Amino acid sequence: MGIESTLADLKGKQLSELPKVTAAGTSNSSNSAANRNRSRNKQSRKNRRRQKKIMVSPVQRLYETCKDVFANCSAGIVPSPEKIERLKAVLDGIKPEDVSVMPEQPYFRRQAGRKYPAITYQHIFECEKFSMGIFCLPPSGVIPLHNHPGMTVFSKLLFGTMHIKSYDWVVDVPSDTSADAAGVPGKDTSADAAGVPGKTSADAVDAIPGETSAAAVDGIPGKPLAAAVDAVPDKNSADAVNDNGNTSADAVDVPSKMSTDAHPSKTKKPGVRLAKVKADSDLTAPCNTSILYPADGGNMHCFTAVTACAVLDVLGPPYSDSEGRHCTYYQDFPFANFSVDGASVPEEEKEGHAWLQEGEKPKDLLVIGSFYIGPEIVEN
Ligand SMILES: [Fe+2]
Repeated sequence: MGIESTLADLKGKQLSELPKVTAAGTSNSSNSAANRNRSRNKQSRKNRRRQKKIMVSPVQRLYETCKDVFANCSAGIVPSPEKIERLKAVLDGIKPEDVSVMPEQPYFRRQAGRKYPAITYQHIFECEKFSMGIFCLPPSGVIPLHNHPGMTVFSKLLFGTMHIKSYDWVVDVPSDTSADAAGVPGKDTSADAAGVPGKTSADAVDAIPGETSAAAVDGIPGKPLAAAVDAVPDKNSADAVNDNGNTSADAVDVPSKMSTDAHPSKTKKPGVRLAKVKADSDLTAPCNTSILYPADGGNMHCFTAVTACAVLDVLGPPYSDSEGRHCTYYQDFPFANFSVDGASVPEEEKEGHAWLQEGEKPKDLLVIGSFYIGPEIVEN
């Protein structure tokens, strides 16, 4: 009864708000009033639709596109060309302000006196299908040569200039070759020992002034860092930073430098593999999104910040230790450094080839987990 009467009241009210329709003989003025009302209502509906569109932030659109694009994907399964293009188009249109990243932020300050300036990773989102995050690199920041096993990776440079060097495996050459390594660094085991990741103590993280805290590191779910950075801070990398910030036992430890400063060895080197150079050039924003695939497009890549820069990375699927998608780090050597049976590259193509050898994590390199501060993503 109560509900019925309420509905009746409401109905009556709604009806009373409709334009009055009269019988034949309606005056011109009432007709034109009705027309004006109809026109206003139409305009108002249009405005509401427009507002709804505006309210979907670019990063929300990115999230929703990723959900669709990676819905049926898994390791080694690449989205269809149509879906790749759709996601690329969304990423191409994203600007630094869409994700609240600006060159003036402390992440991007020059860190004098530090060989590998601390890099910040802002985790945006991760699920089992894909992950999204932003790498913030100060000048000279390096994300060392690493791979993306079974993944399709979209990298959108938001601002700055970045050097990209990338490789794909040469597949018709023995993959595990014992090579005569003229000028190839030996393995520095003592350094490796110090680089073994320890359990974090969640000590305060302060590598970038006033921005990152231990809570921020702990608060980053899962395995956030697209370049396979341990989410768990390493006590052994407790020093670091300097004039700009004061990195202490904090941050997220990044794999060790590929022993480029090690002394040459004449020993036989197992585990080197021939790779072809895919890219070796500077990229300056604004520019289109770079894409790599499980077997081509430069699956092994290294980023070096020529200027301060920010990269929005989308990985599908993300790294997963439990599913065997680990990040492996490499050191690259000129083709001429090795003499290997079974590897034949025409003279004119030698420049475009290199030997890659798995390496250790650079213990003196830090990637610090930080909260993403851009528009919130609403999961659906
Ligand atoms: Fe990467």
